[in-house]
Amino acid sequence: MRRLIVGNWKMNGTSSDLDEIRAIAASAQQYPSVDSAVCLPATLIDRSTRAVDAFPIGGQDCHMQNSGAHTGCVSADMLLDAGATLTIVGHSERRAAQHETDEDIRAKATAAHAAGLKVIVCVGETLDEREAGSALDVVLGQLGRSLPDGAAGIWLSVAYEPVWAIGTGRVAETADVAEMHEAIRTALVNRFGEDGRVIRILYGGSMNGDNAAQLLAVENVDGGLIGGASLTAAKFEPILAAAEATSE
Ligand code: 13P
Repeated sequence: MRRLIVGNWKMNGTSSDLDEIRAIAASAQQYPSVDSAVCLPATLIDRSTRAVDAFPIGGQDCHMQNSGAHTGCVSADMLLDAGATLTIVGHSERRAAQHETDEDIRAKATAAHAAGLKVIVCVGETLDEREAGSALDVVLGQLGRSLPDGAAGIWLSVAYEPVWAIGTGRVAETADVAEMHEAIRTALVNRFGEDGRVIRILYGGSMNGDNAAQLLAVENVDGGLIGGASLTAAKFEPILAAAEATSE
């Protein structure tokens, strides 16, 4: 399985960052065994796709409807029109701040796939849930409800992002990552059969150049979803290098 390394710029980036995006795209070319992309603010997608050559640019969310009276929202068709080839849906920051439900996320994933975008569906437990011993139940519940029926194949990835590891510098223990990714893989295969084996499962949460090799060595960790360390080519490139080194 090819590794997938995706940057999530969150609410960061303006036209003054186009050179950095070019630099990220240029460094990605040095790692041909790795699939990579960056998911940018919607306002930067069009200009970024024009600024780079054949480097995938994604959105960070999309609406479940194609068009209509949804002030401030961006549809999957609009992302595609701007030049995006993928989108994240269900990030924990949106689940928390925008009160998105699993059912919303499932509808968004369905809309994004129908528009022709690759989709990364995020799941992850809070610290309270982990400390209460319910991390597996929470994540598998989110997964089951957030993935569309018939979702299987290389267009879909799942990102396991423990909420307490995001932006905190606190990375999940290797054993916990291994346990969660194995449980996710089992759930995908139970639901989609052999097709569930080609869905890439990404880890996200304080992944950086120092810890990427160790995380990517874990069974069923097929890539990473990276926030802070994706904002510059200097920080992102070591993660790509680690992925290349562990690519099969
Ligand atoms: P950090 O890499 O900054 O912890 O963010 C992870 C994340 O939320 C990616 O979607």
